Amino acid sequence: MLLDRLQRPFRGVRIVHKSPSPDDPDSVSVQIIPYRRLDDHEVQRVLAQVADNDSIGRGRIVTSALASSEQTAFRAAGFVDREALHLLRHSLNDIPVQSGTPVRTRAGRRTDLSSVLTIDRASFDRFWALDRDAFTAAKKATPTHRYRIALVDGTIAGYAITGRAAQSSFLQRLGVAPEHRGKGIGSQLVIDAMNWAKADGASSMLVNTQTSNENALRLYESLGFALSAEKLMVLQWNQ
Ligand SMILES: CC(C)(COP(=O)(O)OP(=O)(O)OC[C@H]1O[C@@H](n2cnc3c(N)ncnc32)[C@H](O)[C@@H]1OP(=O)(O)O)[C@@H](O)C(=O)NCCC(=O)NCCS
Repeated sequence: MLLDRLQRPFRGVRIVHKSPSPDDPDSVSVQIIPYRRLDDHEVQRVLAQVADNDSIGRGRIVTSALASSEQTAFRAAGFVDREALHLLRHSLNDIPVQSGTPVRTRAGRRTDLSSVLTIDRASFDRFWALDRDAFTAAKKATPTHRYRIALVDGTIAGYAITGRAAQSSFLQRLGVAPEHRGKGIGSQLVIDAMNWAKADGASSMLVNTQTSNENALRLYESLGFALSAEKLMVLQWNQ
């Protein structure tokens, strides 16, 4: 997924322009990422800006994953459901202990990026896969973050990005190369993320995952994450 351009029309929202696939009418050309609840007027301002733009082509205009209180103004403007996401939470008072032999981990480096993005593309479908800019944006989404790499025989086998803002931490991204799954690497990266977040001042960790992603859901639940009753929703403009 190419990310052509970032725009910040006003404080609290980011617009990401992507390259829609010409043969997929459901591919995305614009993603609206609000960092706070937008009102009706603000959603109209954003829409006026993106709907005016020739680069949209035939692709869809979608939002990032929104909590229900954040959806109201978008629904009023004609947005409808595109994809539901589970939201899971873990208290950092009871972090599980790593079982099995841990693999080597270290801080992610700039030179790791192309290997990490290869794992990312193998791990997520086109809508969710990150490119370089989106990867950087995921790291910068919170005041502090941890970017960790897992290595098997010197090769990058997995990665995790975790952020913290105030008392909350967020597992932003987690991927393990298909050939290295089922060996405990995902669990190790999540436990590492929890220990870092607690030491960095967080009291809980949140993660969201596609409702269809059974592997991730099983992993998080086996580590003690609790499913929240509320689902997040990616909305799509019904133009
Ligand atoms: C979800 C994901 C990160 C899990 O990574 P993983 O490294 O396979 O996770 P783990 O190995 O720790 O755990 C997976 C399973 O392997 C088992 N396992 C753990 N250690 C093991 C070991 N040493 N030997 C054999 N199996 C093991 C776990 O019990 C778990 O089994 P379960 O699914 O029956 O509960 C990986 O499948 C992935 O990258 N998926 C695509 C991207 C994605 O979904 N990311 C998360 C989105 S929010």
